[in-house]
Amino acid sequence: ITFFFLFQSLLNAQNKLRNLVPNFTFNLGFSGKFYHTGTDDEDIGDDMLLQHRNEFWWFPHMWSHMQPHLFHNVTVLAEQMRLNMIFAQEHGIPTDMGYAVAPHHSGVYPIHSQLYEAWKSVWGIKVTSTEEYPHLRPARYRKGFIHNGIKVLPRQTCGLFTHTIFYNEYPGGSRELDRSIRGGELFLTLLLNPISIFMTHLSNYGNDRLGLYTFESLVKFVQCWTQLRLQTLPPVQLAEKYFQIFPEERDPLWQNPCNDKRHKDIWSKEKTCDRLPKFLVIGPQKTGTTALFFFLTLHPAITSNFPSPVTFEEIQFFNGQNYHRGIDWYMEFFPFPSNASTDFMFEKSATYFDTEVVAKRAAALLPHAKIISVLINPVERAYSWYQVCVAHLGEGVLLLGI
Ligand SMILES: *[C@@H]1O[C@H](CO)[C@@H](O)[C@H](O)[C@H]1NC(C)=O
Ligand SMILES: *[C@@H]1O[C@H](CO)[C@@H](O)[C@H](O)[C@H]1NC(C)=O
Ligand SMILES: *[C@@H]1O[C@H](CO)[C@@H](O)[C@H](O)[C@H]1NC(C)=O
Repeated sequence: ITFFFLFQSLLNAQNKLRNLVPNFTFNLGFSGKFYHTGTDDEDIGDDMLLQHRNEFWWFPHMWSHMQPHLFHNVTVLAEQMRLNMIFAQEHGIPTDMGYAVAPHHSGVYPIHSQLYEAWKSVWGIKVTSTEEYPHLRPARYRKGFIHNGIKVLPRQTCGLFTHTIFYNEYPGGSRELDRSIRGGELFLTLLLNPISIFMTHLSNYGNDRLGLYTFESLVKFVQCWTQLRLQTLPPVQLAEKYFQIFPEERDPLWQNPCNDKRHKDIWSKEKTCDRLPKFLVIGPQKTGTTALFFFLTLHPAITSNFPSPVTFEEIQFFNGQNYHRGIDWYMEFFPFPSNASTDFMFEKSATYFDTEVVAKRAAALLPHAKIISVLINPVERAYSWYQVCVAHLGEGVLLLGI
């Protein structure tokens, strides 16, 4: 019966919020494996929610709440997702919202490319959200990005976690929660972010209705004390709006997952951070960098990348489109630490020198890497470049890239 009331309160809260925020709709995540595995009460609650499924939006969590980064094999990961899809189809839960959330943010950032592939192939996911990019804290610096066609939106924190379920037992006392709502952190979060996404847990709704209390109070406070007009949009439209407001956030900036403990905890054990170079030879072109590369690799302690078949053996990761393939792709070019000495592992891409964005990207992923550049008399370089152009284009055309 408790869950009957939960369900009623959820619907009532949604209706109340709709009076304040047009079209406000709860977005409910489901892990089908846990359907009808609770107490009798809870099983009734499951059924009531499903009966009224059309009152809410729905998104797939993982079938059994497993963390995607633990799955290296994308086929196996997709099979797990398909179980949740079959569950949704059998119970009439809509499957076309284009939004999903991964347990513990796992696989979203740092990127587990297998998750993005599986999400797209099974669910046609277009949008997700996380608190982890670029870092959890400071919360005001959280950003979004787009990877492999999936828009990742920053998610905010509302102070409700799995273990915060009773008003009177709120950490630091219930006054802390009320302070956060009435002008404190939660209020500021809503005030300072044009788009806010919050997530809480069933236990916040099933016990003291703490989630419902928090958000009703927050919206009322905002409407009483500010001129903000609050709106709701479904995830796909919300994501479009987000990147209209913040177009500069579309391109991600990859960081080393091992430099942030939270990131390392949700990073596949099979993807050691030691598979990244310790130094870079950055060019520019026509200064003898290929010769330097060759001489360096003759030393037994120095390890280079595997040659790329498409770009004259260079990886050319930091400067162009390859960057958007993500660091899984980049690391595939380097041997496993068990097979090679990684103390002096390096790569050489002569295209890194003259592209502005390279410095920013390389500093984010390889903050401690040493940089080697070859500088020669510009006249000699120009003449060498001229020879290349003549050789490739024949006479009469001269391209100078100094
Ligand atoms: C509410 O949703 C309906 C149906 O999706 C839509 O037609 C309407 O424009 C929305 N109203 C607002 C204020 O967003
Ligand atoms: C992934 O798992 C499937 C099913 O267990 C298996 O058939 C396939 O060979 C695996 N793929 C790889 C690359 O290990
Ligand atoms: C180590 O090198 C061997 C031979 O090149 C290769 O077959 C094997 O897959 C490598 N092991 C790892 C972990 O990369």
